[in-house]
Amino acid sequence: MWALLTEAGLDRNSPYAYLLVCSDFAATSLVAEDAHGLVGAVASYRPPTRPQAVFVWQVGVAERARGQGLARRMLHELLQVPGNADVTELTATVTPDNEPSLRLFRGLARELGVGCEERPRFAAEHFPVGAGDHQPEDELIIGPIERR
Ligand SMILES: CC(C)(COP(=O)(O)OP(=O)(O)OC[C@H]1O[C@@H](n2cnc3c(N)ncnc32)[C@H](O)[C@@H]1OP(=O)(O)O)[C@@H](O)C(=O)NCCC(=O)NCCS
Repeated sequence: MWALLTEAGLDRNSPYAYLLVCSDFAATSLVAEDAHGLVGAVASYRPPTRPQAVFVWQVGVAERARGQGLARRMLHELLQVPGNADVTELTATVTPDNEPSLRLFRGLARELGVGCEERPRFAAEHFPVGAGDHQPEDELIIGPIERR
């Protein structure tokens, strides 16, 4: 998961961070495999400050499997895993220049027939000087998702 998401071009995190995802947040995260190995991953958790939501921290698909609907399928599946059985919102943050990611989340809202609220969350100046230029991260709130 660490290698896949780092190679996907996302922020570089420590392998330890993914050990936490795969243990503490295993019930609310998922991976996808093909015959050659890991091909997609969603690292997500239930934010204590927004317990009705699942927050997608990172979603990534290996280059060889992009553009085939895998990320969208993973997000639909994410709503079905036991740890997310009662979620009524899916949230994420996206940099404004990440067109594939914006289309992924907006398209999910469209397919679920719910809204996608977009608002500023972390501004560029919230990131430390010396950590490289970081784009702002806007928050997307998809919902309300009806559960049976
Ligand atoms: C974003 C990412 C996960 C999408 O994975 P994917 O499996 O290729 O996406 P899907 O095939 O499910 O397509 C989802 C939507 O993105 C659009 N999309 C996919 N690749 C695109 C591209 N290169 N440019 C523009 N739109 C693109 C698709 O058209 C689709 O939108 P639509 O339903 O409106 O047509 C993948 O590009 C990736 O891993 N990117 C690097 C990591 C990243 O930026 N993650 C998101 C932030 S955490």
